[in-house]
Order: sequence, then C-alpha cells, then structure tokens
Amino acid sequence: MPQKVAFITGGNRGLGFQTALDLKSPETKVIIGSRDLKQGEDALAKLRTAGVDADVIKFDMTNLSDHKAAYDYFNSKYDRLDILINNAGIAGGKFPGNGPEHSASDVPLDLLHKVFETNFFSQVALTKSLLPLIKKSPAGRIVNLSSILGSLTLNADPNSFIYNYKTFAYSASKAALNDFTVHLAYELRDTNIKVNSAHPGWVKTDMGGDQAPMEIGEGGKTSAELATLPVDGPTGGFFHLGQPLPW
Ligand SMILES: NC(=O)c1ccc[n+]([C@@H]2O[C@H](COP(=O)([O-])OP(=O)(O)OC[C@H]3O[C@@H](n4cnc5c(N)ncnc54)[C@H](OP(=O)(O)O)[C@@H]3O)[C@@H](O)[C@H]2O)c1
Repeated sequence: MPQKVAFITGGNRGLGFQTALDLKSPETKVIIGSRDLKQGEDALAKLRTAGVDADVIKFDMTNLSDHKAAYDYFNSKYDRLDILINNAGIAGGKFPGNGPEHSASDVPLDLLHKVFETNFFSQVALTKSLLPLIKKSPAGRIVNLSSILGSLTLNADPNSFIYNYKTFAYSASKAALNDFTVHLAYELRDTNIKVNSAHPGWVKTDMGGDQAPMEIGEGGKTSAELATLPVDGPTGGFFHLGQPLPW
C-alpha cells in the first residue's frame, strides 16, 4: 500500500502530466484522469518509463457518473485519497486573444456556462464526492488550478501587468474557483486537510501557447509543492512558486 495516493484530473497532457512527473516518489502512487483512455494510457506509459508509480482512470470532469466511478475506484483500492489536484480546465477561447469570450459585454452565454461547468461547477462537485476519502488521509491536500487571471485585485489594478489582458469567461471561472478554495479551507481549518489555489505561471502548453515564457518542465512545480505541503504549511491561500498572490 503506497503511503500517499494522488489523483490529478486532466493528467494526460500539459500541466497535469508534468505534475504527475513532479510527484514521483517511492511513497506516492499517482493516478491520472484522462477523458480519452487511449491518450491516458499513452501518458501512463511515459510516466512509468520515467519511474513514476502511476495508474490511469477514464475521467471526464463534467460527467458526474465519472465522479462516482472515481470515488469507487479510490475507495475500493486504497480506502482513502491523500492528494486531489483539480487540474483539468479549459480556456474557452484562444490565449492571447480578443474574441468575444474575453469581453464582459460580448461573451456568449453558452460559452460562459461551458467554461464555468468545467472550471468551477465540476471542480466543486468532484471535491465534494471525494472529500469523505480525503478526510481519511492523515494529511489531505487539495490543489485547485486557478490562474493569476482569476485575481480580482490584479484585474482591477491599472498598474498590474495583467490589467490589459482581459479574458472574461476564463477569469471569472477562476475567481469563482478561488472563492471555493477560501470557503472550503475555512470549513476544513480544524482538520488535517489543506486547500490552496495554484497559479502555475504562464506555461507553454496547448492552453498556454507558444508565447508563454515558462517551459513545461517548470510548470508543475507550484501544484506539486502545494500537494506535498508539510503539516505547518499554509491553507486557504493562492500561490505561485511559493509566493502568495492577491485574490
Ligand atoms: N498553461 C498555462 O499557462 C496556465 C496558466 C494558468 C493556469 N492554468 C491552468 O492549469 C490547468 C492545466 O492547464 P494546461 O495548460 O495544462 O491546459 P491544456 O494543455 O489545455 O490541458 C488541459 C487538460 O485538461 C483536460 N480537460 C479539459 N476538459 C476536461 C474535462 N471536461 N474532463 C477531463 N479533463 C479535461 C484536458 O484533457 P483532453 O486532453 O482530453 O482535452 C487536458 O488533459 C488548467 O486548469 C488551466 O486553467 C494554465
């Protein structure tokens, strides 16, 4: 039985895959979720070649029966879950870009719903489903993949470097996810569970695009660090590479 069991949603590529690599440890079993099982199995083969003790489950964030199946999987195999990384997410448009999805006045409402469904409602639902198993961990860690673009403070500050970089649908969904972090951390403040939001950096992935300054090899560090926080580590915060960010 591994000492720690971790679940990373959207672990077949991008930051989720990199975080699985970064969690490599003799004590940790890393289970990646992938909506396409074939792609997940290809990723799993790479993880195992790299020495990660890993497995894959078919998992679509927006499919509630997959949430139940994930619960059953961790419950029957491990009777607990130590680390949940709510990583899967969608941009809802091209980054960088100036499409209507990035405008508060023009955003198509169906697209706003779709982005919130993946980036917010499904994250809340999955966390609720798995929380009974995380409560069985001696040191539960929940990491919500947010973004600096979800910071209300920086979005509203004319002196902030993101001020002129508006991505309404995406930013609003990440701001909502940040609020989930704050509320859940408050509820769990007297438990062994820590809940934090991560900004990985602007990273070269399919979502981040080629212009991103950060290489993929650096992109999993914030998630991995928050997933392995020591007992005296923070909870209810928003971090990038160990530095706090404003909400
Ligand atoms: N890259 C950046 O610069 C950056 C910056 C800040 C925050 N983030 C956040 O970091 C997280 C990962 O981003 P990334 O750059 O790695 O994005 P990515 O390269 O586009 O990968 C997204 C991952 O999420 C999965 N996914 C999307 N919708 C899903 C669903 N409904 N169910 C299950 N999996 C789903 C994708 O699976 P498929 O392969 O099946 O599509 C893929 O594995 C996201 O939450 C993103 O908002 C990224």
